Amino acid sequence: MEHSVVILAAGLGTRMRSKVPKVLHPLLGRPMLRYPVEAARQSGARETVVVVGHGAELVMEALADQGVHFARQKEPLGTAHALAAAKPALQNFTGALLVTSGDTPLISERTLHRLKEALRAQGRGMVVLTMKKDDPYGYGRIVRGADGRVARIVEEKDASPEERAITEVNTGVYAFDAQVWDLLAKVKNDNRAGEYYLPDLVARYLEAGLPVSALMAEDPQELLGVNTRAQLAEVERVLLDRLRAGWMQRGVRMILPETIYLEPGVELAPDVVLEPGVMLKGTTKVAEGARIGAYSVVENSVVGAGAEVRPHSVLEGARLEAGAVVGPLARLRPGAVLEEGAFVGNFVEVKNSVLGPGTKAGHLAYLGDATVGAGSNIGAGVITANYDGEKKHPTRIGQNAFIGSNSVLIAPLDIGDHAFVAGGSAITKNVPEGALAIGRAQQRTIEGWVWRKRKGVS
Ligand code: UD1
Ligand code: CA
Repeated sequence: MEHSVVILAAGLGTRMRSKVPKVLHPLLGRPMLRYPVEAARQSGARETVVVVGHGAELVMEALADQGVHFARQKEPLGTAHALAAAKPALQNFTGALLVTSGDTPLISERTLHRLKEALRAQGRGMVVLTMKKDDPYGYGRIVRGADGRVARIVEEKDASPEERAITEVNTGVYAFDAQVWDLLAKVKNDNRAGEYYLPDLVARYLEAGLPVSALMAEDPQELLGVNTRAQLAEVERVLLDRLRAGWMQRGVRMILPETIYLEPGVELAPDVVLEPGVMLKGTTKVAEGARIGAYSVVENSVVGAGAEVRPHSVLEGARLEAGAVVGPLARLRPGAVLEEGAFVGNFVEVKNSVLGPGTKAGHLAYLGDATVGAGSNIGAGVITANYDGEKKHPTRIGQNAFIGSNSVLIAPLDIGDHAFVAGGSAITKNVPEGALAIGRAQQRTIEGWVWRKRKGVS
């Protein structure tokens, strides 16, 4: 039996207190809604329809590359009304219809599969996924009849005190047969919220003489709903726990793992060491034996085998080859490349520049749009002045060159192999191979000046 999935995501999400639509709040750097969409895809859904409403344009833009259909709910009149909006997209589909919510991001492909199998075993009707909650507050309660079968679902607002004491709750995930569209039309909004409730379909199916059953969730954690910022953080914690556990199983060493933040696109090799407070984002790849120091942030970067990022460094779009060392307190911006064994120390900023093997910039430098050959030394305070107010210009430094402290290299500039730039120089002209360049005012030393000055005063 084929199945399609509808993901309801048109609600207001007022409890988030945010201008951003709830389903676009990021979890590990990806919009929340991407997670159920991914589960639907993995489950082999024929169609995935996302019902949008509040912030529809933004939501559709954020999921434009996900291969899903969008259906628009014009006003948020309730979850049943939202599902009805998906009808035009699925009218000719007669397989199982699985419905879930955009704010239940941990739902797994396995659970979708179980629900579909339960409906298939039953033949027709509907199946609702339920769970037990010690504190069921806020959830729809599963009301069972004298025969123990599901009779209806009652929402918090409409429940009697006895019903509120029920701990079996609606997860908001369902499987329906193709009768769903006809039965949806019979759902009314005669409840305290004045909304069209999707859980009302239980009663409508039973009325039509079709079977309704409940399937207990295997892992209630999967059904955590995000209605508040605290729940968003809780769900993110669950995702992080899973990611970290997976990497540790594959040989990654984490010191105080609960302080480490990783995104799903990150790849780590065995014997990588991550110190406390590290954040690894985007498509970052860290090779075997590399070490990322405490409180460093590494985004969309490649860290080679045995390389080391010392504490409090920030890397974005950078590449460290094997054995390169960065930090503490260094900043590598997009296009920064440190070839084998190169070193960048504290308060050095590197942008769109290549440092050759073994080259060192130990302290307080800015290298932008520069290429530096192997074995060169960039002194403390060296600046490549790469911007003239209109354009960026390149600086080329050869191998085994020595750039003295506090020099300003005014680009465009070529400095040859083995060249030597004296400290404190402002260099505006090319320096040929093996030459010494000094570009600074001559020092004057006036003997006895201090003693003479003091005599004059007294
Ligand atoms: C819903 C269920 C409740 C269940 C709970 C599980 C209803 C009436 N209640 O309550 O029984 O225990 O989920 O988490 O369904 N949405 C729309 N359009 C609307 C209203 C909502 O698209 O007009 C979407 C929301 O964006 C959300 C989902 O439907 O993704 C659920 O809506 P929400 O308001 O969060 O329902 P709950 O109060 O959580
Ligand atoms: Ca909800």
